[in-house]
Amino acid sequence: MSIKTAIVDGVATIEIARPEKKNALTQAMYQAMADAINDAQLDSKVRAILITGQPGIFTSGNDIEDFMQRPPQGLDSPVFQFMKSLEACEKPVIAAVTGAAVGIGTTLLLHCDLVYVSDEARLAMPFVSLGLVPEYASSLLVPQLLGHVKAAEKLLLGDPFNGAEAVEMGIANAVLPASEVLAHARRMAERFNALPPGAVRDSKRLMKAGQRALVKQTMATEGEVFGQRLRSPEAAEAFQAFFQKRKPDFSKFS
Ligand code: COA
Repeated sequence: MSIKTAIVDGVATIEIARPEKKNALTQAMYQAMADAINDAQLDSKVRAILITGQPGIFTSGNDIEDFMQRPPQGLDSPVFQFMKSLEACEKPVIAAVTGAAVGIGTTLLLHCDLVYVSDEARLAMPFVSLGLVPEYASSLLVPQLLGHVKAAEKLLLGDPFNGAEAVEMGIANAVLPASEVLAHARRMAERFNALPPGAVRDSKRLMKAGQRALVKQTMATEGEVFGQRLRSPEAAEAFQAFFQKRKPDFSKFS
């Protein structure tokens, strides 16, 4: 199974484990992650959730072949189930970004509570280069964090960035040596074992309450445009170019 789950010492770990495809996420993997978050939410033994990847790769984002063959259908699709379950999760979520984090690999971090990044990680939100648009409320949250012009570098140009920049941007807490990032994230997750769980949940809810409705509305609006873009000739050219290992040619589009 490409998603491994385990509950140890109060921490539910969700490990993305498809290294041969750089941890690209299929609909089945999104569903498994959504189920794991929902189960952890209901399990009174779980005080925190830890999301991690493999050495050198957190996730290369949505599986591009899946995008082409099984484009997500509406707000009930597995990818939306995953996005909604993480966004709504009442328990603290910690991410150990063990390597490259592309697309949703970066935008999901905007919905975690503590984020630790390997010093070898590169992050990127190259939606536009794929003929797509930002998702997971990143069109709202990234400009809020960076201001419009810096957000444009990341979301329109798709410029990659490293862990130090992610910390500067307010997306991550700290950069750690690659060999230490997972253990550090786990230690931070285990700190919730010593805290009162009700106060943690209520506090997280209050921290998010101010713009929760706007975040959900943005996810829905982005989802609609994203669905249209997935079927666009621009996206078809980008996806074909990826699999043909060539640069896309957008010169014929106006
Ligand atoms: N979807 C489907 N397959 C993917 C994938 C994805 N998102 N990312 C990587 N793969 C596959 C590659 O096609 C390749 O398969 P192959 O061995 O059958 O040819 C394999 O995983 C290894 O990928 P490769 O690109 O050779 O690894 P790399 O180390 O050179 O680069 C990345 C790693 C993550 C930088 C690069 O794979 C990448 O940019 N992936 C696409 C990211 C992306 O655009 N995601 C969508 C965001 S919305």
